[in-house]
Amino acid sequence: MGSVMAAAVMLGACGGDEGASTPLQNESNLDEQLAALLTEQEVRPVEPPAAQDPKRVELGRKLFFEKEISGRRNISCGTCHHPLLGSADGQSQSRGQGAVGLGPLRRHEGESLFLARNTLSLWNRGVAGWDTMFWDGRLAGNPEEGYISPSGDPTPQEFSSALAAFTIIPVTPDEEMRGFPGEPDVFGNPNEMADLTNDDFAEIWPLVVARAMGVEEYRQELLAAFPGTTEDTISILHLGEAIGAFMIDAFTMLDTPFDRYLAGDTEALSDSAKRGALLFYGRASCSSCHTGALQTDFKFHNVAAPQVGTGKGEEAPLDFGRGRITGEMSDRFKFRTPSLRNIELEGPWMHNGAYADLEDTVRHHLDPAASLSAYDDRQVEPELVGTYQKNSEELLSTLAPELAVKGDPLSDKEVVDLMAFLSSLTDPRSLNLMHLVPDTLPSGLPVDD
Ligand code: HEC
Ligand code: HEC
Repeated sequence: MGSVMAAAVMLGACGGDEGASTPLQNESNLDEQLAALLTEQEVRPVEPPAAQDPKRVELGRKLFFEKEISGRRNISCGTCHHPLLGSADGQSQSRGQGAVGLGPLRRHEGESLFLARNTLSLWNRGVAGWDTMFWDGRLAGNPEEGYISPSGDPTPQEFSSALAAFTIIPVTPDEEMRGFPGEPDVFGNPNEMADLTNDDFAEIWPLVVARAMGVEEYRQELLAAFPGTTEDTISILHLGEAIGAFMIDAFTMLDTPFDRYLAGDTEALSDSAKRGALLFYGRASCSSCHTGALQTDFKFHNVAAPQVGTGKGEEAPLDFGRGRITGEMSDRFKFRTPSLRNIELEGPWMHNGAYADLEDTVRHHLDPAASLSAYDDRQVEPELVGTYQKNSEELLSTLAPELAVKGDPLSDKEVVDLMAFLSSLTDPRSLNLMHLVPDTLPSGLPVDD
């Protein structure tokens, strides 16, 4: 147990109740106050996931950047989850098929076709308890209870984690990785997956596996990484497990100043970050949803993020979020509470990338009504400017009650402290992950476009 926790325990043990419950203004007591609050909120050091099999990690790394497994051989996981862009793409909404380039420079050549949501980051998705995936939680589960997934009945159930189970989904939608009918691959050859529909999961997956098995290096490495398999039994499950192992190995980032503080190093945080943590887990009520050391309860809440961008499904240009999955009115506009690990690296923020500035995102929570009326949609992708829906009344009518600063509104100085705390959630190793990108790929397809 680190000294911070030890101090908290001592406060309790020595009958220091008055000390723990009376707000202490004295800066020198910051550590004691914070230790007491973190103990009360059960914020404990995060247990890292188990080490992954190196053969699967190395295979998964190549597959993650491999365009051969996309319909037109033109897009990979790494296109949208780039290691140099906070494991996302720097766009308010992600661009799939028909776009070229990487990151903020990625643009559509013809018609602009966005995925409905902002690209999620991949940090720490292998930590125990991360059983819910997507902004709306439409994939969830664990090895004990099994998985529910947008792929429904065909979903394999043998996955080791929700992360691995997720991995077999992005290859299936036409606008994401599979491609549209009539559009050939980058060599001008027909795309054998194009004529299927997005929900033909059971037909699409074997074609994706065949693409990988058609490359000798992948064939050998798949068989070697999954002992007991044969050419006939290698399936999408194994591709998912390998890519999952890579993501856990590459994107587990648990050496932030805040982690060091939790482990007992009281010097790891500045006083400003400590005051920010006191607000975050205390008066500003952030931790009523952004709970624990990963800052998420994995539940769904409506914080009335501005409805801007394409929207999703029949309700477009609105996005009902969790309400699309449950069909409940009361779930409309709810999204899964995002973890705030490495949060400063993955803008734009919110499910649709509504905010290009992290402080604006935080301030939105402090006064959603004011933020909605002042919202300027010139901060989203150029083609999506002008899509802001002024439906604040509807949004605010089911606003999450947990959004409540206790006592006086936060001062500007307190917002600075809150931002310093959010900065302490960045693991410096995440800043340059260029070493993850392979120089070449077994298919011979390019990695750097
Ligand atoms: C065209 C861009 C694009 C590509 C290609 C892509 N993703 Fe994503 N990814 C997204 C977007 C957008 C989301 C959020 C979707 C949502 O929640 O509705 C997402 C979500 C995720 C999540 C969920 C994280 C969480 O916490 O819920 C994982 C994991 C993930 N992607 C992994 C992958 C893998 C693995 C691949 C390759 C097989 C891949 N992605 C390909 C854009 C992309
Ligand atoms: C009612 C639950 C709740 C409370 C309280 C809350 N948040 Fe959030 N927060 C969310 C949800 C849900 C989202 C995603 C909303 C969306 O995208 O539509 C979010 C988004 C964010 C984001 C953007 C994350 C991303 O990946 O884009 C940040 C930063 C953030 N919150 C910080 C805070 C801070 C700081 C506080 C305290 C002042 C706070 N939140 C209070 C639920 C909450």
